[in-house]
Amino acid sequence: MPKATLLRKLLLECHPALFAGAHNGLSAKLVESAGFDGIWASGFEISASFGLPDANLLSMSENLAVVRSINEATNLPVIADCDNGYGNAINVIRTVREYEKADIAGICIEDNLFPKRCSFYEGVRRELESLEEFSGKIRAAKQAQRHADFVVIARTEALIAGLGMEEALRRAHAYAQAGADLILAHSKAKDANEVVEFARRWNGCCPLVAIPTTYVSASADFLYQQGHRIVIFANQGIRTAVQAMRATFKELRHTGTSSTVEDRIAPLAEIYDLVKLADLQSQEAQFLSLTSARPRAIILAAARGFEKELGGLTRDRPKCLLSIHGKTLLQRQVEALRAVNIHDISVVRGYQGDKILLPELKYFENPRYEETHNLISLFCAEEWMKGAFIMVYDDILFEESILLKLLRSQADIAVVVDHKWHEDHQNGIQHPVSRPELVQTSHPPAHFYRFLPPENGNRVLRIGRMLSKDAADGEFVGLAYFSERGSELLRKTFHQLYPERRHLPFHEAQALEQATLADLLQYLIDQGHAVAAVGIYKGWMEVDTFEDYKEVWEKTQE
Ligand code: SPV
Ligand code: MG
Repeated sequence: MPKATLLRKLLLECHPALFAGAHNGLSAKLVESAGFDGIWASGFEISASFGLPDANLLSMSENLAVVRSINEATNLPVIADCDNGYGNAINVIRTVREYEKADIAGICIEDNLFPKRCSFYEGVRRELESLEEFSGKIRAAKQAQRHADFVVIARTEALIAGLGMEEALRRAHAYAQAGADLILAHSKAKDANEVVEFARRWNGCCPLVAIPTTYVSASADFLYQQGHRIVIFANQGIRTAVQAMRATFKELRHTGTSSTVEDRIAPLAEIYDLVKLADLQSQEAQFLSLTSARPRAIILAAARGFEKELGGLTRDRPKCLLSIHGKTLLQRQVEALRAVNIHDISVVRGYQGDKILLPELKYFENPRYEETHNLISLFCAEEWMKGAFIMVYDDILFEESILLKLLRSQADIAVVVDHKWHEDHQNGIQHPVSRPELVQTSHPPAHFYRFLPPENGNRVLRIGRMLSKDAADGEFVGLAYFSERGSELLRKTFHQLYPERRHLPFHEAQALEQATLADLLQYLIDQGHAVAAVGIYKGWMEVDTFEDYKEVWEKTQE
């Protein structure tokens, strides 16, 4: 849908359409995230962002390039402040065509003579065009537009130029007659009396716009009640930025260290979010040939699982070969890994391992799968663990976004922790069979999953099946990442422990032989090593019972 149509819809709603000024893509995103209805691509802000006065010094193309980047950064409709249309009616025709092509919802043109001066500058030459000349510009604009919804706002500077209320009304009526969709009678008065009187005496043939830059105490609701359909906070954004930047630079120059400003400025992660770093990462994962930089994957598929609870489904096959809509769990996992450009995938086979024959995978065997647990299975693939790798349990399905989040963690060791478990636990919901590997993190989310992890990440404090449910705030889903360093640490630690502890109790296990990866992770944490918790909320499923299997079947796309 063209943005102009969005703007038209907005104008039909029963509240003031609230716009705020922007001068680039980033400020437009901030306007949008604050909940405004639209963006005002402000001439004042754009000029100031070039370090120039608001006086028609930038060309139409220079302005349009900025307005385009504003428009592309936001889903909101953009009204472009086009000053006086960059010339006479002929220039206005091209302006309308170019802005419409860029999917700008509407433009505002003012009756300042070219080259204009900002409405608030004192001691500068201020001349207006004749009523006839400017009416011609409005007619030209309306004739030039291709889409019926494109909006043209006519702005009169009569009040600013001191020509009086009668002249402002006379001009506004003429501009409305010439086809303007809305009228903006700009005022530089300290209170709203002027615009209120104008609105009271306006004949209502088209709606009004207000820009309360100087009459600061007039609220948007008040202006709406007086008849203003759109209220624009035109330049408060850049003025805020200037004040904040000035203070920060002053402090940095004075102290010579950024530590004193760090808690007053936006965290880096906030900027990453605003510029959608996640999109870049996902595109890289999909389209760049980064295989060498990508970790390998090890799928642990040796265990037999709960055969009874699975209603005999695994009597004749390992769990990873359970089929969901004609595709096995293993195939689905391999697809998810390949979708994020992980192509070096290995599988540790055990129970009925000879049936796992998917091509193009590397296979390792754990012949002692009956008497060992997943830690030993993992180490059956030790040769595959040189360099970074991702460990995947064989009985889970997960969204690709979870893998991407894990890959982004930048930690040496990271595990995916689902905090939905915490919510279920608080609501008394329990899985009938599986005993989840619970996790207690350093920064548990508040009641429900509405939190941003700390910038240096959330950490696992404790992990294991025996962890008290009240202490835990999430569940380990069976996805873990090890960087080259993390992998080295894991292997070194295992080999240090193995000869002595092989048959001795180890964390929750009766012996290291029967330990899980979680047991070894807890050991590493106790030794002072960091294990990052990559928090998620849903987005994955596991198959432990026949009921789980049915649910996965129902919730999975064919
Ligand atoms: C602008 O933002 O460029 C405007 C509104 O024209 S004001 O600066 O308040 O005049
Ligand atoms: Mg302007």
